[in-house]
Amino acid sequence: MKLLKGNLVYAPRLGELETVPHGALLLDDGGAVRDILAAAPEGCDAEVLDYGDALIMPSFADMHLHAPQYPMLGMGMDLPLIEWLNTYTFATEARFADTDYARRVYRRLAQDLVTGGTTRVCMFSSLHTDATLILMEELERAGVTGCVGKVNMDRNSGDVLRETTEQSKRETLRWLDECARFRHVSPILTPRFTPSCTDELMAWLGRLADERGLRVQSHLSENGGEIAWVRELHPDCAQYWETYDKYGLWRDHAVMAHCVHSDAREREALLRANVAVAHCAGSNINICSGVAPIRTMLREGVWVTLGSDIAGGAILAMNRVVTMSIRASKILYMQTQGEDQFLTVEEAYYLGSTAGHRWFGADGGFPKGLPLHAIVVDDGVFAEPVRALTLRERFERSVYLMDKGAIRAVWSEGRRVVG
Ligand code: GUN
Ligand code: FE
Repeated sequence: MKLLKGNLVYAPRLGELETVPHGALLLDDGGAVRDILAAAPEGCDAEVLDYGDALIMPSFADMHLHAPQYPMLGMGMDLPLIEWLNTYTFATEARFADTDYARRVYRRLAQDLVTGGTTRVCMFSSLHTDATLILMEELERAGVTGCVGKVNMDRNSGDVLRETTEQSKRETLRWLDECARFRHVSPILTPRFTPSCTDELMAWLGRLADERGLRVQSHLSENGGEIAWVRELHPDCAQYWETYDKYGLWRDHAVMAHCVHSDAREREALLRANVAVAHCAGSNINICSGVAPIRTMLREGVWVTLGSDIAGGAILAMNRVVTMSIRASKILYMQTQGEDQFLTVEEAYYLGSTAGHRWFGADGGFPKGLPLHAIVVDDGVFAEPVRALTLRERFERSVYLMDKGAIRAVWSEGRRVVG
């Protein structure tokens, strides 16, 4: 057993923050949370890890990002989505045919994720099977857990990045066979978005998801030009989401990135099917897609999580993705003269941690019986405050600033992977 001592801070439900000053987490030998204690017990025979006055908080879950876009952070940020894809993105992803290059970039990415406190991901790779397997290896090596998808894209990808429908099917099956060797990362089917996939490929992926009980991730209603294009490609579908539904890809626990322009009917479809939204505020502002109506979605009960969406988003650190989602919500707040309440820090932190962990079956902050996913934040590295701060204030400051060298240890799936 292990006993982790420190100030416990977690957001078990939307808008709620639990704080346990100088408390402790008791872990069993497998790293699962056995108990949340208000004080460390005397004379307990557990191995003690005393984090002193530091904050122990649930780690982050990045529910949408593109691993092969890591080398192009901060590039092409003056272009709208489709031009950005055609000019920068597809050419960058094409480089991942080179497995040595993939190894170098993915090793760095996995390390940067885990040292930044992200222990669960729902991630896009590129269309390359070998590079995708390398990505999964590097995530496992660093201690990042979650889902990774070999991207399927058999049309509209230009000359540099292309797979035929047959190749896409064959490579997907080869990749799925190889995935059996991983313990902490698993495959998720990943049709890039409707314009990238022929009807035949979409239908095949929908059947495969059914046969093998696989989850699905994709993009939805990100940008005006994209939505108009989807309408042209599928004139029989009244709305974008129906192009996925038509082929069995609109499923329980599907993850749809963006949903910036999802109207009441599309949001109702998200709610009904228990599809999770991955809200990517930084990306949506960078490439001028818009600001998603998150407050409305939350009011309606839609499942909202957060994603960095690198490299549409230029920031991997999830604490800054959390604060960006607050800023985006404040834009709507100002535009609606206060009608659309902005996200509080505890709400946004909930979306970036607990709401994502829930997708992996771990709800409530530090769920008992499940392996620990946590960060230890030493806010003593920030400037000395003018007075003693409450734990709530220290939490707020940590959410805004922790990427500046304050993450002292990281626990992922019950294992200490940093610190
Ligand atoms: N839609 C289809 N592909 C992409 C991508 O790589 N990034 C973003 N932001 N949107 C997409
Ligand atoms: Fe994306």
